Amino acid sequence: MGFRDKFKNADNALTFNDVILLPGWTTLEPDEASVKTQATRSVSLNAPFIASPMDTVTESEMAIALARNGCLGVLHRNCTAEEEVDMARAVKRAEALIIRDVITVNPETTIEELLELMSEHSISGFPVVENGDSLAGIVTWRDVRLADKALKVGDVMTKDVITGTEETSLEEAMGILHEHRIEKLPIVDGKGRVRGLMTMKDITLKGTYPDALRDEEGRLICAAATSPFDLERAKALDQYVDVLITDVAHFHNKNCFEATEKILKEVEAEVIVGNIGTYEAAEDCLTKLDGVAGLRVGIGSGSICSTSVVTRAGAPTLYAASQAADAVKDYGADVPVIADGGLRNPGDIAVALAVGASCAMMGNVFAGCSESPGRLVALEGRYYKEYYGMGSPRARRKRFVQDRYSQPSKAISEGVEGWVPYRGPVTDIISEFVGGLKAAMGYVGARTIPEMWDKARLALITERGAKEIAPHDIMRPGPNREP
Ligand code: XMP
Repeated sequence: MGFRDKFKNADNALTFNDVILLPGWTTLEPDEASVKTQATRSVSLNAPFIASPMDTVTESEMAIALARNGCLGVLHRNCTAEEEVDMARAVKRAEALIIRDVITVNPETTIEELLELMSEHSISGFPVVENGDSLAGIVTWRDVRLADKALKVGDVMTKDVITGTEETSLEEAMGILHEHRIEKLPIVDGKGRVRGLMTMKDITLKGTYPDALRDEEGRLICAAATSPFDLERAKALDQYVDVLITDVAHFHNKNCFEATEKILKEVEAEVIVGNIGTYEAAEDCLTKLDGVAGLRVGIGSGSICSTSVVTRAGAPTLYAASQAADAVKDYGADVPVIADGGLRNPGDIAVALAVGASCAMMGNVFAGCSESPGRLVALEGRYYKEYYGMGSPRARRKRFVQDRYSQPSKAISEGVEGWVPYRGPVTDIISEFVGGLKAAMGYVGARTIPEMWDKARLALITERGAKEIAPHDIMRPGPNREP
């Protein structure tokens, strides 16, 4: 092949702004469309939205809010492994049918220590155990709020504890809690040892969030990012998370593959790998790694990315999604493709689904929500939240994401920092995006996401066309316009 052939054989690395969805014959009303999808082989989502593992996007609060709304937030790794494990633990503790990871105290614990534990874990009551795990009593906020701080738990606890067993159903537990006007029901075995805890709060939450993603024990589904090179972190997270995501900018790399092989062997969680951008990369993930549960695709499209500006290397997300989805199809693999980076609105998500993606991962959109950890700032009468790339100098200062990028790139930055408009609670964004996505599916005539893969047709659009399909030739009022 001559050098000139490189132009002839060049692919069209098209992305969102280059295409539109063609309207198709439809027999459905948008409301009838289902936006349910798979994030991994076994984790299904009620809507195809995932929040990026970035320290201005996903910590426990975002992960909890998204899981309660049937979506997923991936905990970031720009912190110590212990801090990330704590975040995962908080997600798992947010609700459960039976809490297994019960925090207990003993009769010798002082009231002062108890109050500290209450505020540290935001918990209002603890089972009291002696000789390891034998239930001796229960102590709640009501018992201690006026008590002398020098007293011990044994002096104020309720000794006559109402308990349940492993066989106690949700309805029975609710009946017992109501009847005795109590909030917590320790679950004990035949020898009186604490095996779990049921709480009124958890039972009520189950009714409040019927769409929540829960595991078999009623706990929220949790996903977390790891470096492929940090097996210890992956193993520590594995106790709490359902999904692990390798978090590197260019996963199609011998060292990443070898390191991930070890993670795949050692953890029980499902593992999503990425980011990748080509058919060949997807093919290698599917054929050379055993047990990959999802592909995270797109390189350089993120709103805070400067990778492709600096290096001229990248795989725009829509292009990457079509490449990976074809590999998945060709190999008959049951592995969802997650389009990551550059998705701004439901239309972008619709075209990503049209080329075979199962879900959309977004940082920018979720960074603007109340539940994101970024700082809220007011600028010229409007609210914004801080948002920066994981390759930006700001994120790299914390030093935990250095290996997201290649060695020499440590000297350059592959991300930028700034602010995004504040968007309010994540539930509002999800319903807005679900509405928009269903409307797009209505135009296509697709009842489900797999039907989008089959039925959706795309057309290319010119730059002038792209201007025409956005509002134009009209004066619009806005705070930035001077009279
Ligand atoms: P959006 O468009 O939602 O994209 O802001 C979020 C995705 O961008 C990726 N990411 C980066 N890519 N430099 C990059 O090249 C960075 O600093 C950076 N930080 C995040 C990541 O895949 C994320 O999900």
